[in-house]
Amino acid sequence: MTAFIIDGKARAAGWRLALKDEVAARLARGAPRPGLRVVIVGDHPPSRAYVRIKARVADELGIDGGIVELPTTITTDELLAVVEGLNADPAVHAMLVQLPLPPQVDVPRVLEAIDPAKDVDGFHPVNVGRLTNATRPDPAALLIPCTPLGCLDLLLAVHGEDGLAGKRAVVLGRSNIVGKPLATLLLSRDCTVAIAHSRTADPERLTVEADLLIAAIGRPELVRGSWIKPGATVIDVGVSRVADGTERGRLVGDVAFEEARAVAGTITPVPGGVGPMTVAMLMRNTLAAHALQTGILA
Ligand code: GUN
Repeated sequence: MTAFIIDGKARAAGWRLALKDEVAARLARGAPRPGLRVVIVGDHPPSRAYVRIKARVADELGIDGGIVELPTTITTDELLAVVEGLNADPAVHAMLVQLPLPPQVDVPRVLEAIDPAKDVDGFHPVNVGRLTNATRPDPAALLIPCTPLGCLDLLLAVHGEDGLAGKRAVVLGRSNIVGKPLATLLLSRDCTVAIAHSRTADPERLTVEADLLIAAIGRPELVRGSWIKPGATVIDVGVSRVADGTERGRLVGDVAFEEARAVAGTITPVPGGVGPMTVAMLMRNTLAAHALQTGILA
């Protein structure tokens, strides 16, 4: 079998088109222009690339997107003051602080300082708690972390709105950014969910039973063809750059793609799978935050 390859780039483009129309419709109804601020600390090259994409896509959609660049030497208190300023700014409906942050910064304090209504990453404990408590989390009413939301959207595109119930899902990785919220979302869709991580003995024993396998561990090509149940849906969240003799190297995921596509039923590529969906879901969350704050949909 050769797996069907999910075109995340095309699906994300569809989302962006719909969201651009939605921005125009809200402006036509007299709403203020949605504002998004992406805060970046220091010069971590992948983070800088991600935030540039986020601000550029925001602008494409008619959202007032801006990057707030801060020095790598910043203290927690200085960063908290920036967050408070954005909380208080009525032109800013949405914000995120790009992670990772330098070691001197108290990350939980910073994330907890963000107004939950503007927290488009969904990392504030209030939003995490709301997600955990929801029977069927509604992305229009609740800010849900962008990468898991994008993974769920791809899975719903493959399996249909009611097609995930009863499926065995294995999430590789237990991060607050992807693994844990994704497991929660899959549970809300009535999947049977297991989370495997760096201390899981013999993860392959779990993954070979998975109808849905989502890899979010950041270990290049760890998941081999032998880990995959024939016909499974495989979502690859990992992005790593590996040496290939060229100056830039090559982007690979957590899944050994060529081996996996020979076994899986459906698979996302890297690049062009989950990555563009994360950015599209950030824009979706920005409009959700804008609607919740302006009451434009009420
Ligand atoms: N670093 C890696 N992924 C993310 C994300 O989704 N949001 C933020 N803020 N930082 C990240």
